[in-house]
Amino acid sequence: MYLTKSEEKILAGEGGRIPQKALEILVALGKIYHADKLIPISSAQVAGVSYKNLGEAGLEFIRDWSEAKVKVRTTLNPAGADMDKKGLVPQDFYNKQKQVIDAYSSLGIEATCTCTPYYVGNAPKKGEHIAWSESSAVVYANSVLGAYTNREGGPSALAAAIIGKTPNYGYHLDENREPTIQINASTPLMDYAEYSALGYWIGKETEGVPIIDFGQRPKNEHLRGLSAGLGCGDKAMFLIGEGEQGLETAEFTEDHLIEVLDKFSADDFDLVVLGCPHLNIGEIARVARTVRNQKVRTPLWLFTSKKIKTEAFHKGYIDILSRAGVSLISDTCMVVMPLQAKSILTNSAKAAHYLSSQGKHVQLEYTQDCINYALGERKGGEDED
Ligand code: F3S
Repeated sequence: MYLTKSEEKILAGEGGRIPQKALEILVALGKIYHADKLIPISSAQVAGVSYKNLGEAGLEFIRDWSEAKVKVRTTLNPAGADMDKKGLVPQDFYNKQKQVIDAYSSLGIEATCTCTPYYVGNAPKKGEHIAWSESSAVVYANSVLGAYTNREGGPSALAAAIIGKTPNYGYHLDENREPTIQINASTPLMDYAEYSALGYWIGKETEGVPIIDFGQRPKNEHLRGLSAGLGCGDKAMFLIGEGEQGLETAEFTEDHLIEVLDKFSADDFDLVVLGCPHLNIGEIARVARTVRNQKVRTPLWLFTSKKIKTEAFHKGYIDILSRAGVSLISDTCMVVMPLQAKSILTNSAKAAHYLSSQGKHVQLEYTQDCINYALGERKGGEDED
């Protein structure tokens, strides 16, 4: 792999210990994937933030690296706690989580912990090369925003942020972004849960880069759910439309949709969660309108970024939600925080997938049905006694 003179100096340690280590990671990756050179990036997004996943070894690693500084705008993936709500997780855990975020902040990384950085200002323009590591954000960036990123691991995204460059391979190359399979969605899709189920099915059942024919372009928030579902497999991008004649074709039918919905099925939920990936302000407004002047009987937790939560506060939505007993939680998510609940209702296939793998009982359900359940309406339209 070609290195410039200044890159060679960094590799020789002239830029300091941590930039040297960071470049070693990028060069090793570049060699494995036959990159020809490093290319500049405009932003980074670093996963590996929750203390639940990092533990003490991860915290030590970040502290060790915190003497360096990032060269591009960098934000964090959700942490293990809402840093504004101390009581949600044990105090010890909260303190450790704060130390992780403080260590990342020392690197010059924004303490914005979200899987939707594109809603909070870290939104690359079409054609920009970036190094993001949260799988749903990677798929969304490549497919909806038109940016170029591989699915980075936390350390490689951090290394790229410190050097300001990434190895030129994979989804940074146009030839790897061509569609290889046509997906026809023959069943009409309306709800977020359905789009996330479609993404989940494509991610699990197909190979290559899918091009999806929807007829009409879906809303971007539905494409966010689709991106998250796709990211449960090994996908990093999709395209929308009709590919060239002769492409391999797969049909997403009503049966496939029911198959995914039925895969995640449980009863008697002790928690309802929305916001995987993090909600935008319009979705929070819709929940607020639905629960106005009512009271939830099962806890309903909405997950978003701190910036969107602040916006929700100024628009009066937090007041409405609080009076209905709904919690708006930022900086974290249902998957990466220590969650006491055992049986959970959600509209996201990604949340269902990862919560199931943590041993929770989970049901994937339509958005309005999730809210109705929280408000006391049970299956079959019956109200709770
Ligand atoms: Fe985001 Fe957590 Fe889902 S990181 S994509 S809300 S699992």
